[in-house]
Amino acid sequence: MSALQELVLDQMKDLLHAEGQLVKAFPKLAKAAHHPKLKGVLIKHLEETKGQVDRLKKGFELLGEKAKAKPCKAMQGLIEEAQEHIEECKEKEDVVADLTLVASVQRVEHYEMAGYGTLRTMAEKIGNPKLVKLFSQTLAEEEKTDKLLTVVSTPLLDEANQDYEEEPEQGEEESDE
Ligand SMILES: [Fe+2]
Repeated sequence: MSALQELVLDQMKDLLHAEGQLVKAFPKLAKAAHHPKLKGVLIKHLEETKGQVDRLKKGFELLGEKAKAKPCKAMQGLIEEAQEHIEECKEKEDVVADLTLVASVQRVEHYEMAGYGTLRTMAEKIGNPKLVKLFSQTLAEEEKTDKLLTVVSTPLLDEANQDYEEEPEQGEEESDE
């Protein structure tokens, strides 16, 4: 096995752990979403994520290796932060909570896109088109999810960007920074 093949395996172990964590986290993220379209994107991506775990396992099989996960601290951190934001947003307006959620999930998606993009390039280099195909499929799903998140958040951004012309209410003090 070449050093690059070993690297490919290492990267796959990292992503297997990352995806495994996401399978657990996405139901919570979807539950926290208020807008039905956002919820829909997250639920759909949960199903895709399960397929991505299977794809990685297939990749290990192709390389004649046992599927093994190696703790992905970066994804742990991203998920932890997302959960903290969900807690913080419980008191906030739905639109703000949803936009915060989108910000967290897009970070997750971009992290994965980086991972699979690198892996695909490595798989090309080691001359394994079956692996390249697997990683390309997953990469396309992550990219699509990222784009869908942008689409569903567009009206929310507009909503959050509106000035509160009727506020503050009488008797309420305006806070000056
Ligand atoms: Fe993924």
